[in-house]
Amino acid sequence: MGHLFTLQLGRVLGNDWASFSLTGSCMEFLRIKSLDDILANAEKKPLKRQLDAFHLIMLGIGAVIGTGIFVLTSVAADKAGPGMLYSFIISGIVCMLTALIYAEIASMVPVSGSAYTYSYAVLGEIVAWMVGWALILEYAVAAGAVSVGWSGYMNGILRDSGFGLPLALTAGPADTITLADGTTASGGFNLLAFLVALLVTWLLVIGTSKSAKFTGVLVIIKIVALTAFILLAFPAVQSANFEPMMPNGWGTPLSGVGVFGAAASIFFAYVGFDAVSTAAEETKDPQRNIPIGLIGSLLICTVFYLLVAYAAVGAMGAQPGGALSQSREPLAFILRELGYPAIGNAVALAAVLALPSVVLMMIYGQTRILFNMARDGLVPPVLAKVHPTFHTPHVVTIITGVAVALFAAIFPVGMLADISNSGTLFAFLIVAVGVMVLRKVNPLRERHFKTPLIWLVGPLAVGGCLLLFVSLGLYTIKLFFAWAAIGLVVYFAYSRRNSHLGQRIQGDINAN
Ligand code: ALA
Repeated sequence: MGHLFTLQLGRVLGNDWASFSLTGSCMEFLRIKSLDDILANAEKKPLKRQLDAFHLIMLGIGAVIGTGIFVLTSVAADKAGPGMLYSFIISGIVCMLTALIYAEIASMVPVSGSAYTYSYAVLGEIVAWMVGWALILEYAVAAGAVSVGWSGYMNGILRDSGFGLPLALTAGPADTITLADGTTASGGFNLLAFLVALLVTWLLVIGTSKSAKFTGVLVIIKIVALTAFILLAFPAVQSANFEPMMPNGWGTPLSGVGVFGAAASIFFAYVGFDAVSTAAEETKDPQRNIPIGLIGSLLICTVFYLLVAYAAVGAMGAQPGGALSQSREPLAFILRELGYPAIGNAVALAAVLALPSVVLMMIYGQTRILFNMARDGLVPPVLAKVHPTFHTPHVVTIITGVAVALFAAIFPVGMLADISNSGTLFAFLIVAVGVMVLRKVNPLRERHFKTPLIWLVGPLAVGGCLLLFVSLGLYTIKLFFAWAAIGLVVYFAYSRRNSHLGQRIQGDINAN
């Protein structure tokens, strides 16, 4: 009987864990999805495989370069001063370690759904649920942050052309605006951030998605803008602007300031490379191209970021409370200050043109994850409804879009980016643990890309994510745990009972 039961579980859960001697009740609690089932399901509804390594690199850069470099540079300056250069390096290293890990799992399980799907197959349903729940922070809150970043540049352009909005409509009530005379005021409702999120939602509902050509054009616009910035700001670099290098020191855990505090915020600038893995089902030779796309796009962005950060600090100075740290459109601001107003405006225009596509990628990623969760029964099935004419998951898109628009209207960019980072860091950490677990429980499964030195890279990635997580401010960490607690309540009140995998396992147990 016991033997039969284990065999049945082995059939349901696949071979990865069945070879491990877990008891039946432990298996039922963990509810691990079979990797073979996931792969077989993906085979059933094949998407056209048309993306190659170059497309993926463009897709990655398209999702990565956004509000982080265009806007959060000033937040980083406020937290770390010129030491923000170290912050860029630290978070770049953590992301590179994670990208090496993502490359292994994404080339092994080339299906969409990203960290949520991998966790379901390796660590089980409850962990997958928590990852999916945290990814809501990563994607939806990030979309809000990018919308606020966009509004900073758009408001600047409107103001300079004499059509500026009243101050109360340029920032949310939780935001503080520094006025020309140095005094501060609270915002009211960030109108443009609200509207851009709704506009992108509408585009997604009517079926605009990741068009490779369109992404390519926007990537070129962003690269040209950053290159122009680097070329003009570099000659103005002065060593005096690096003094004092670290006015707030390295920072202490939970303080949210200093070099580590800024690294935890600027981490946002690198987020998005994982979007490459969500295109796995549409990629030619994914086992080769996904690792190239993930690592290649991140490498290119890192080089640009380090150059931009160095040029910004060196040309302008970056002391906390200084002019750079207060700007909402720092790259354009620096160019104007250096005597290039027209090019500053052009860089602002590039941000205005390109950032909505980052909002689009983030909302799109969010809807894909919720859509997968709905198909697994973990969130209500209405979220998996597809529009009869547009063939898009309109219900989940509209709910997500309205939530994003409200976040964007109310909260400041730095706060949204930090909250988003808490969810992303959690998801990255779990993926790193999952890849190491899979090396142990199923060492023989074919791996087309193996993370080099996994027992060094894996623990370093976990440690790096933890370090950045505790470097976020206490407020953000409290919010993360409150969100996680709500997630657990939802899981046990709804998702566990309605899980399709759980119902299958129960059916098999009852049949015995
Ligand atoms: N990395 C993306 C950005 O900076 C999310 O906008």
